[in-house]
Amino acid sequence: MSTREHWGSRFGFIMAAAGSAVGLGNIWRFPYITGENGGGAFLVIYLGIVIGFGLSLMMAEMLVGRSAQRNPVGAFRQLGGKGWPLVGFLGVLTGFVILSFYIVVAGWTLSYIGQMARGLLHSRYPAVLGSAFEGFVADPWRPLAYAAVFMVLVAWVVTGGISRGIERANRWLMPILFLLLLVLVTRALTLPGAAQGMAFYLTPDWSKVDGGTFFAAISQVFFSFSIGMGTMLTYGSYLSLRENLPRSALTVGALDCLAAFLSGLMVIPAVFAFGFSPSAGPGLTFITLPAVFAALPGGDLFGMLFFTLLAIAALTSAVSILEPLVSYVIDEHGLPRRVVVAGASVVCFLLAVPASLSFGPWSEVTVFGKTWFDLMDFLANNLMLPVGGLLTALFVGWVWGRPALTALSNEHQLHQPWAVAWLWILRVVAPVAITWILITNLS
Ligand code: PFF
Repeated sequence: MSTREHWGSRFGFIMAAAGSAVGLGNIWRFPYITGENGGGAFLVIYLGIVIGFGLSLMMAEMLVGRSAQRNPVGAFRQLGGKGWPLVGFLGVLTGFVILSFYIVVAGWTLSYIGQMARGLLHSRYPAVLGSAFEGFVADPWRPLAYAAVFMVLVAWVVTGGISRGIERANRWLMPILFLLLLVLVTRALTLPGAAQGMAFYLTPDWSKVDGGTFFAAISQVFFSFSIGMGTMLTYGSYLSLRENLPRSALTVGALDCLAAFLSGLMVIPAVFAFGFSPSAGPGLTFITLPAVFAALPGGDLFGMLFFTLLAIAALTSAVSILEPLVSYVIDEHGLPRRVVVAGASVVCFLLAVPASLSFGPWSEVTVFGKTWFDLMDFLANNLMLPVGGLLTALFVGWVWGRPALTALSNEHQLHQPWAVAWLWILRVVAPVAITWILITNLS
């Protein structure tokens, strides 16, 4: 077997993993889900899940990958034997499902950079912007063209390989992303009237909390942390055995939470300052925010920066959604990276076609009452990622078990009591919480 490519540096790995985690999930999804679920109360629950088992699961995935030095299918086969590679396959399949809707939304952000730059979105009225948005997404061709451009960008980065493609892109893009985020947060917080939004964002309203809130929070943690489909496993497989995993997982998790929290700070106070509603759903970013920008001095520039931020975040994440399946085909079937990336990208794009048409000509075509886009989103977030995470937790906790502890703590990376706590989180806490949430909400 040829030697596996590895990350060039620890910083490069952290940026790549954070680049995977910080994406549309943080900037597009997190603020509106928070808005719909009681603001501060959702924040508290979200953080509880992150600490409760999110971080432990991220570490578990990285550890499986690092120990096996293989793609998700190969790693589960090597460490678990018969049957377990199916968990890896589920991950590879989930990657296709997520990319099919992810590149559609990412394509919208590319188009919005251009529309902002040309001043086409200059209206203070969400109703006007709403029909502009709906007109755009309902078009059968334009959104698809942007999705295709985005897919080509993703393929270009992934074709470069680990250190010269993925790592290099993230080393540049992630610092730029955080810089843009800070500029926009500062702008939002210095708006008159921002204080009321801050109060909504930071004061928990427990009356809005029910079982559905927990479900929303758990699926948001999975999606945002990129766990449950073998992405962190694959990125971990390009680490050398000496990497301090607990510290890396903690850093990546903290950066992801920071990005989500800052996105909320950027969006929610600004929305309040102009008297709009923070619970506008998925349109918050594409309808409400342009109205905010139109009311700001220099708003078109800030708007352009915002959609650039969103596009960068989407790119570094989409790259990480493609990599597990690329690494699977390369490892198991020995095909050249270039060929695999080209083939996988074409399939992803074809799957994105019905997702994009869901907003236009195919809006009436539904399966289980959902359009293709909604169905893919629902399947990935509410089913495939949690189930993948559940199986990974059970695998590491019970099947791999004690040797996992040795793999982790042999190198004195985690003091014994913490390592044992980590194992029990995987054995009991995560499986019970995920199963309970799945059963109560899907039945
Ligand atoms: N974490 C990404 C986001 O928040 O947008 C999405 C994602 C990436 C999900 C990688 C799953 C994954 F494996």
